[in-house]
Amino acid sequence: MAITLDFSGKVVVVIGGTSGINRGIAELFAAHGAKVAVASRKQEKVDDTVKRLQQLGVDAMGFVADVRELEALEAGLQLVHGRFGAFDVVVSGAAGNFPALANDLSGNAFKSVVDIDLRGTFHVMKAVYPLLRKPGASVINISAPQAFIPMKAQVHVCAAKAGVDMVTRTLALEWGAVGVRVNSVVPGPIDGTEGMARLAPDKNIRKMVARSVPLGRLGTPEDVGHACLFLASALGSFITGTILPVDGGWSQNSCGGMSEYLGTAAARKPVS
Ligand code: NAP
Ligand code: COA
Repeated sequence: MAITLDFSGKVVVVIGGTSGINRGIAELFAAHGAKVAVASRKQEKVDDTVKRLQQLGVDAMGFVADVRELEALEAGLQLVHGRFGAFDVVVSGAAGNFPALANDLSGNAFKSVVDIDLRGTFHVMKAVYPLLRKPGASVINISAPQAFIPMKAQVHVCAAKAGVDMVTRTLALEWGAVGVRVNSVVPGPIDGTEGMARLAPDKNIRKMVARSVPLGRLGTPEDVGHACLFLASALGSFITGTILPVDGGWSQNSCGGMSEYLGTAAARKPVS
């Protein structure tokens, strides 16, 4: 039988799925027929996303939770499981970022990003595990090039996302026995997103970034979503523990001049 990207009848959960890249991923799975649930901190973002997903013609729901709070996540995920059943695909992508040099970061600032990105990822993994389809589920953590490319003004993000990729690789080992695959997808610079607004706030910088991407352009949420569809489909059924950059080759180029740009910009900026 030919393998397709039809997700009709499948259950997809996207944590942090209410804006930017993750929302693009949620919409792409919906466009391929999946029932989709999203979660994030803000009720209005959840409501708006669920409405959009329903407009795409699929069953959709959402709940409010901060990934730093395991119990809130567990409660919301129970509701999704109760209505949709076992999870076929989980995308975990909640994250926080701001540029700041290590000497300007308070302990709490470092902790806030580690808590959201790394501890939050662990919480998502822990909360979804009992609800996953076994065998068969595909779990995808959204990482970043900072996980393996050191970047000035990003020590908190570099440390947190490196940890996310090790969560991916370790759980691939532990969960392989029950037929659950775990992979990381690493977006490059994705146009029109909050992440880009924070790291490359003006048009000229974004042009510089686009020029430094070997494929010569910024990415789109759909570029990242396509990789997630592939990994979650039967086409990816022998892939686990992989860290997959979807970045036009940017990380092969050490992310162009991003580190120097961020370091210089952060040194100039008064600390907020
Ligand atoms: P974004 O629009 O800010 O998306 C972040 C999402 O996570 C939102 O839905 C946000 O909704 C939610 N969120 C944030 N903190 C949360 C928390 N504590 N608990 C639960 N949900 C939370 O950002 P983006 O730029 O599209 O980035 C999405 C992902 O891609 C992130 O993992 C990021 O590290 C990665 N990435 C982005 C780029 C890029 O170019 N943008 C590049 C590489 C990697 P609420 O505000 O409602 O909580
Ligand atoms: N430079 C230095 N420190 C900063 C900072 C900046 N630009 N922005 C926040 N901080 C510090 C705060 O001062 C605080 O430290 P303090 O208690 O020592 O003063 C700490 O970080 C936590 O800030 P707070 O605003 O209380 O955190 P929060 O939990 O409400 O929000 C953030 C988390 C800071 C990551 C916030 O930017 C966020 O919610 N981001 C989500 C969206 C996002 O970042 N998207 C892009 C994803 S790539």
